[in-house]
Amino acid sequence: MSLNFKDYIRVILDYPQPGIRFKDITTLLKDGPAYRAAIEEMRKLVEHLQIDVIAGPEARGFVVGAPLALALGVGFVPIRKPGKLPGETIEAGYNLEYGKDSLAMHKDAIQPGQRVLIADDLLATGGTIATSINLVRQLGGEIVGAAFLIELTYLTGREKLDGIEVASLINYD
Ligand code: PRP
Repeated sequence: MSLNFKDYIRVILDYPQPGIRFKDITTLLKDGPAYRAAIEEMRKLVEHLQIDVIAGPEARGFVVGAPLALALGVGFVPIRKPGKLPGETIEAGYNLEYGKDSLAMHKDAIQPGQRVLIADDLLATGGTIATSINLVRQLGGEIVGAAFLIELTYLTGREKLDGIEVASLINYD
């Protein structure tokens, strides 16, 4: 069965700031068959990449990255906001579509040479993913692709991922 996944995304106007058309994925996540189908379609988009491990930024990156890792039979590494990981970490800062933030990873999360897919719910400006890629590369991981449930193509975040294979299931132009 082929679903139109856009039908399951709720668009909320002026959240969290005026002018933003927020893509609410909770309406997809609460629908079991649609959630499963979306992850399965994402799996098909990335299965050729010979992935060793998936890394995803909190929090919404977890609800895409972890089930995708399970579907592929690979591990999942969380990329978290600072102060949340208990072991030794590395950190990097970035600008968001609306605000600023930092991300952290455990120093031993990735083994040098591992083939890493970055997964997140949404590609907007690309700041989150560019920072995630920076962190994984600092740890010696090889980025083999980036996968998203949603890509806001009008924000051209893909340009920040120059040379990296990008897979996105739902596009908004
Ligand atoms: C959102 C979204 C992506 C990021 C996309 O996360 O889940 O990670 O923004 O924006 P960008 O491409 O402009 O960087 P947010 O930081 O709001 O955190 P959350 O997942 O914890 O809600």
